[in-house]
Amino acid sequence: MSYPGSVPVVLFRPGGRSADVKKGTLLIDAVRGAGLPIASPCGDDLICGRCGVRILSGRVTREAPIERRAKLRNRIDASLRLACAVRVHDDLEITADYWGDV
Ligand code: FES
Repeated sequence: MSYPGSVPVVLFRPGGRSADVKKGTLLIDAVRGAGLPIASPCGDDLICGRCGVRILSGRVTREAPIERRAKLRNRIDASLRLACAVRVHDDLEITADYWGDV
């Protein structure tokens, strides 16, 4: 949990990289900023569903209907969140299946 005035920290598993990000940053930008790969063939437009990540800990906003529809349309695991839809407001710990130990 981040405190008022503090900067949220995103921890990337399993590699353990972390990034301090400005509140309100799109999660996909935090991933890119940390130098980790993330698929985004639609250009962050909530169409392709390829930017799914798993939130291991931390609070994120509820899923909006547009994100839910993108996941359904692309048969994305319902438990994943689309990184181009989530804004970082709190400390998070996340992973993606294809990160390995990066
Ligand atoms: S980058 Fe395409 S849905 Fe997120």
